[in-house]
Amino acid sequence: MKLAVVGGGSTYTPELIDGFARLRDVLPLAELVLVDPAPDRLRMVGGLARRIFARQGHPGRITWTDDLAAGIDGADAVLLQLRIGGQAARNQDETWPLECGCVGQETTGAGGLAKALRTVPVVLDIAEQVRRTNPDAWIIDFTNPVGIVTRALLQAGHKAVGLCNVAIGFQRKFAALLGVEPGQVALEHVGLNHLTWERSVRVAGEDVLPKLLTEHADTLAADLRLPRHVLDRLGTVPSYYLRYYYQHDAVVEELRSKPSRAAEVAAIEQQLLALYADPALDEKPELLSRRGGAYYSEAAVALTSSLLADTGDTQVVNALNHGTLPFLPEDAVIEVPATVDATGATPLPVRPLEPLYAGLIAHVTAYEQLALDAALHGGRDRVFAALLSHPLIGQIDHADRLTDLLIAHNREHLTWA
Ligand code: G6P
Ligand code: MN
Repeated sequence: MKLAVVGGGSTYTPELIDGFARLRDVLPLAELVLVDPAPDRLRMVGGLARRIFARQGHPGRITWTDDLAAGIDGADAVLLQLRIGGQAARNQDETWPLECGCVGQETTGAGGLAKALRTVPVVLDIAEQVRRTNPDAWIIDFTNPVGIVTRALLQAGHKAVGLCNVAIGFQRKFAALLGVEPGQVALEHVGLNHLTWERSVRVAGEDVLPKLLTEHADTLAADLRLPRHVLDRLGTVPSYYLRYYYQHDAVVEELRSKPSRAAEVAAIEQQLLALYADPALDEKPELLSRRGGAYYSEAAVALTSSLLADTGDTQVVNALNHGTLPFLPEDAVIEVPATVDATGATPLPVRPLEPLYAGLIAHVTAYEQLALDAALHGGRDRVFAALLSHPLIGQIDHADRLTDLLIAHNREHLTWA
């Protein structure tokens, strides 16, 4: 089996490689190609990747290239994990929205729209190349904003599934708190990418969420950086990203008073690359745990293996709604447990959703639709409409100002601007 990772020069890649090495029985890779436009990164990350495979006795071949066509040639699956404009563009996304008192975040709010506008056209070009050279290959999208990017891919008819590590992170966290194996924990995870709630947590068929909330709410709340009473009152566990909604103004104040996450990440990346360049290093360094990508390798291995081996097991992924959440358009992309087999990901039925969740999900879905429209067709009016529709923006003056800021900060990435 051959796998290509586009954006393979990412400092996250050793997490992926470590998973491929440990889980080689689940996903027997013969060849792994890292594709990236940055040759220095490829050499450092690729070198470490080879040493990780060698240390763990993985027989697979690792190569790297800056030539997309060569990299994806013959691949059974193509993983997308790219970041257009790098941490510098992310830094902008996290900064200029604050001028209007709106949250500055790489996937949520105006910054997330900027990221979508930079990213969707590039991802669609890559997907077209995959389809031309390799029509049977699966595209697994980690590229943010995953909901919008996956919707773009599926709308264009690509064989794609979107993936995020939030659900698998909760599964591992809950398993550790409960003292069971992660595989025993089934989440009733519902919503959109980076806008989800855990409604139940089943172990051997029993819902243990009430017990988790009684015994571990303080730990969970601290992890999510939400006050404990939010969990008590909801009776569900929201993802970390709900903080940007439930505590929007407080988060804006906090963001104004400290360096951006992009700046933090850029500093971590410098240290990581220095470690990766050391020929004595042959495992994923501890420092990588300071990035947000925990367990994304496990999620990638599970999804790739189920798509290619037609297993039909259940995984939380981003897939077409198709009536699963009846209050959303058929072609919306939702993040829920789905059956994964050789035909792709099919969401499992979802119990009727309370208005507290359905309202926000519907609102953000409408934004995502307008965001995709802006990403595909460009133009100031479309950017403005997407911003106006976002539940964290909504005011005409803010939407106007944010439109100008978004365009000014992203001109080099927007062909129409
Ligand atoms: C989590 C999210 C990803 C996001 C990452 C950011 O893993 O699910 O979608 O890219 O956090 O982590 P970072 O270390 O770049 O801030
Ligand atoms: Mn994510």
